[in-house]
Amino acid sequence: MKQTGTILALAGLASMAHGHGFVTSPKARMPGTAMQEACGQQVYNNQEADNYGNVQGELQIAQGQSDFDAEKCGAWLCKGYKFDDNKDNVYSYTSGQTVDFKVDIRAPHTGVANVSVVDTTSNSVIGSPLKSWDVYASTSTGVKDSETSFSVTLPDNLDSKCAEAGNCVLQWYWFAESIDQTYESCVDFTVGGSGSSGSSGSSSSAAATTAAASTSSAASSATSVAVTTTPSTGNKEASPSGFATSAKSTAAASATASSVSIPTDGTAEEKLNWIASLLQALVN
Ligand SMILES: *[C@@H]1O[C@H](CO)[C@@H](O)[C@H](O)[C@H]1NC(C)=O
Repeated sequence: MKQTGTILALAGLASMAHGHGFVTSPKARMPGTAMQEACGQQVYNNQEADNYGNVQGELQIAQGQSDFDAEKCGAWLCKGYKFDDNKDNVYSYTSGQTVDFKVDIRAPHTGVANVSVVDTTSNSVIGSPLKSWDVYASTSTGVKDSETSFSVTLPDNLDSKCAEAGNCVLQWYWFAESIDQTYESCVDFTVGGSGSSGSSGSSSSAAATTAAASTSSAASSATSVAVTTTPSTGNKEASPSGFATSAKSTAAASATASSVSIPTDGTAEEKLNWIASLLQALVN
């Protein structure tokens, strides 16, 4: 159906305006009940539906949310995702260990990026970045393999700073300057800690993750839509079909209430998203 094609293309276009990225390996913090408690319902809903989303997007949503406590949420550290939601995935590393990263980026948007050890008690970087890019996910060259698959080497002078689970994360940080969107993923780890779990993901699940990730990026670069790929890490990348589902329920809810609220402010992109979701809900 021609009409459907147009609308799907429009929806695809709207989602292309977001960068979207997340660390798929090692397992990073995800939204959970602790995050919900700290950041409030709407910010939680937003990230739970799309953990590939960005910090600025969260803060924009938070503006209209009465249960948002900026300090408690701490959106600039791990996008507000909490250790308490990730206790089962604390990696036990050794001083100077090399850690392999896989990042899934849905759409390139030129920016800068780095990976650092962050002291979560103060949201400060320990030492200097373990890896940094002056140009990352460039729109002109496209995403490079070296930006999505790389290793970092942990410092050998962390002393006891990272001995206790929850105190340190390896944070991947991508600031897509061209669209003012910041993406973060946090891996919980200890060095020199006493006993923690989750240090050894099986290689088969790592392979599955990679396969899933490449499937989903292929799907998104094709501008369309009908594929819902759920990476085995449990990431919830908002695929356009998930988008349609939520748009549908929104439209249904509006219909029930027999009023439709039309966003009067917000960026052109948000309006486009809104229109696309409405149209998509109508054809489904
Ligand atoms: C990582 O990059 C961001 C964006 O440029 C920058 O603000 C931050 O200071 C960098 N982190 C470190 C540890 O240099």
